[in-house]
Amino acid sequence: MTADRVQRARMSARKANKVTQVFGDQYNQTGADDEQTIPEKVQWPVWVGGLPHPASAFQRRALVEQEIIGPHVGESDDILCRVLVGDGGVGKTQLAASIARNQRDTPDAQGRRLELLVWTDASDPELITASYARAARKLCLPEANESDHAAAEGFLRWLPTMELRWLIVLDNITELRHMESWWPDGHHRNGTVLATTRHRHALVSGGNRRLVPIGLYDDEQATAYLYRRLADAQRPRLFEQKSAVELVGTLGHLPLALSHAAAYMIDRGCDTAAYLHLFRDTRNQLPDLLPVEADTDSYGQPVATALLLSLKSLEAREASEAAGAPGLSRSLLQLIALMDPIGHPKDLWMTQRALLHLQPSPKGWQRLFIRRAPDVDSQAVENALVQLHNYALINQDTAQSPIRLHALTRRAIFDGINAGQLPVLARVAADAILDIWPHPEEGNSELATLLRTNAAFLIKETHPHLLTEPQHGCVRKVGRE
Ligand SMILES: Nc1ncnc2c1ncn2[C@@H]1O[C@H](COP(=O)(O)OP(=O)(O)O)[C@@H](O)[C@H]1O
Ligand SMILES: [Mg+2]
Repeated sequence: MTADRVQRARMSARKANKVTQVFGDQYNQTGADDEQTIPEKVQWPVWVGGLPHPASAFQRRALVEQEIIGPHVGESDDILCRVLVGDGGVGKTQLAASIARNQRDTPDAQGRRLELLVWTDASDPELITASYARAARKLCLPEANESDHAAAEGFLRWLPTMELRWLIVLDNITELRHMESWWPDGHHRNGTVLATTRHRHALVSGGNRRLVPIGLYDDEQATAYLYRRLADAQRPRLFEQKSAVELVGTLGHLPLALSHAAAYMIDRGCDTAAYLHLFRDTRNQLPDLLPVEADTDSYGQPVATALLLSLKSLEAREASEAAGAPGLSRSLLQLIALMDPIGHPKDLWMTQRALLHLQPSPKGWQRLFIRRAPDVDSQAVENALVQLHNYALINQDTAQSPIRLHALTRRAIFDGINAGQLPVLARVAADAILDIWPHPEEGNSELATLLRTNAAFLIKETHPHLLTEPQHGCVRKVGRE
């Protein structure tokens, strides 16, 4: 340790009033009553946990990175944690890894190098404690020889006294309720915390945390990625501009889906036009179009599973909470999946006929064991929509704006609807459209246009169920255009 570092660490220890004194590379605990010498030497810099490798054809998203780490006008000085929030597969982990690599390899404006970097999988609090405990041991903290939990606590107590530059990354937080004790604290000028999560829950923000929504690629980034990936694999001829633009739209500009699609095309020599054709054929299901073998970047999950992962957590929560209506979120999503990705009004699902369909109906033996669920009313639907939004399954910019579903999440839900359910769902959605159709249309043309677009989409997606006799009334509404 350099004299300069020793001096800074000493000052920091003094500020903290007790925690550490530094003698050469040795840390001594000078608590009020006990004195403890830690014999091990700290090897600086301290790295805990490996950073994920950059994805194939890695796209640097410099503007987004700047948005994450750059100062924000009017922002409080105390912001220490940046929480990257977004759907599965948008590139949160890749962004966090890119920032971490950059901080690790480049000195900051004052010429300070990163001295401590902890990257941890945060999907389970035990993984976080294990990583903090490893850090405590590498740093030879007094609690190093205690249990993981105690060592992790010791590490978090020590961190605010650290005057050297540090970075902690908590990747993929799944249970916000369990995070409370494990958010690092410290001086924002010395340290940064990056966290990634799918949850848009209020618990994410607050304290010294800033929430940064991570979006999809835009058209240009998505096509640039696709070209680069095919070209890197010596297959640039598989790229054709017009079909590529349509394809990236069909895949909802989702980095995860684009990487799987590119791997599929490279593997089978299928060009963008041919792949688009395969994808548009709804008889082909997602697991075939974006197969596990195409996971060349080791994401670790099939795309459809990744997209619906949050639905599984939400369903578990619905089943366990007294106020929840088991199965409501899935039933709602199935109706939402029949609507145009452009968006639709949430009032559709609060109409009497939609509510009737959404009533819980445990089947067979489930009747005996499942508690009597409360009736589903419009408030229950409203609550379920809020939860779907919090779990990043639907998008809604404000409480009044249309509900939207990511194109691929829609496809994943749609693939899960069985042949017998489809005609029923088609009629429920079509009834709901008629029930909120404005009379007269004049003065409400915006709503009428949105409903007409959705009705046309619904008729096409559920073909031929709404056209068979007796033809559904919403078909006439579309015909008026
Ligand atoms: N910047 C990027 N450049 C290239 N590919 C990317 C990029 N970001 C994401 N990907 C692709 O998308 C996949 C999912 O990204 P990841 O960051 O793991 O998503 P998230 O953490 O948001 O679920 C990666 O495995 C990779 O194939
Ligand atoms: Mg991730």
